[in-house]
Amino acid sequence: MQQSPQAAFIAPVRPEGDNALEIGTCMELKVFVDLEELLTTRLLIQGNSGSGKSHLLRKLLEESAGVVQQIIVDPEADFVSFGETFGYTVVDAAKFKPSKLASVARKARELRGSIVLTLEGMPIDDQLRAVAAFLNGLFDAPPEHWHPAIVAVDEAHLFAPNGDNGEDKEARKEGQQAMANLMSRGRKRGLAGIIATQRLSKLHKNVAAEASNFLLGRTFLDIDIARAVDLLGMSRADGEQVRNLNRGEFLGLGPAIARRPMKVTVGAVMTVGKAGASKGLTPLPSTSAADMASMMLADDDQPSTPALRVVR
Ligand SMILES: Nc1ncnc2c1ncn2[C@@H]1O[C@H](COP(=O)(O)OP(=O)(O)OP(=O)(O)O)[C@@H](O)[C@H]1O
Ligand SMILES: [Mg+2]
Repeated sequence: MQQSPQAAFIAPVRPEGDNALEIGTCMELKVFVDLEELLTTRLLIQGNSGSGKSHLLRKLLEESAGVVQQIIVDPEADFVSFGETFGYTVVDAAKFKPSKLASVARKARELRGSIVLTLEGMPIDDQLRAVAAFLNGLFDAPPEHWHPAIVAVDEAHLFAPNGDNGEDKEARKEGQQAMANLMSRGRKRGLAGIIATQRLSKLHKNVAAEASNFLLGRTFLDIDIARAVDLLGMSRADGEQVRNLNRGEFLGLGPAIARRPMKVTVGAVMTVGKAGASKGLTPLPSTSAADMASMMLADDDQPSTPALRVVR
């Protein structure tokens, strides 16, 4: 098929077969990510809250499920549905010591089984220690188990923060080092980091700098746009485009996506996150002020009774 002059200029990748992960469209043409290229060049997804990062991560993982081993670090229990849909082992990190998580990670490499490590509800220091131990376990697997695997980390700034956010100092350092290892030295061990973050300026520089592919979603703060422009070597004018993106739209760039920034509208997914499908605004209840106050203040073990007075 003849390429349009614009497509030829953007130079999107044209992978084939299992290698072609269809993630959405650009001007009604299908957009692909090249899986083989992705495995050696890693990916960073950034976009403010609600821009559609987790949806995009889900799309990429759904497209490559069954083709390559997937290891998902899931702070919000958003990907536990992969257990049911794809038969992944779901591990609740809160139930295990870090040393056990490291050995689970080593076994996952040996067995080539896909896994979701969910961290929901854990204090941040415990999350940092759990993720560091788990990633180090993946990393320490012996060379005969260095099979290709995607390691997807949502909310990556939590595990490799840029600076001090009040976490325990040692736990923070462990997380930063493990994430930097994944992104810089993981490739030789077959580990391909795909990380998503709300705010580039909150993610440790050593972690962000190692990705060669980027999908940039809606971003508002100057400091995050400036970091993105720096990382990608984009013009400031190109960088400004990310302010105007809608939810589910990303600028894609890199050897596994396209040679010049390409605007991608991410397609539909088949699995659902923890919150389920987007609910939009639902009508508020029409309960009277007195009844509402009475029900809110009722003892937990007693049925709600009408209010004696309205609390102001
Ligand atoms: N391409 C898309 N098509 C349809 N719905 C989408 C798309 N992208 C995102 N959404 C919906 O928009 C909402 C926000 O998306 P998502 O949870 O992926 O955002 P996020 O960037 O991960 O936000 P946060 O940083 O707060 O986790 C979700 O309800 C999701 O289903
Ligand atoms: Mg998210």
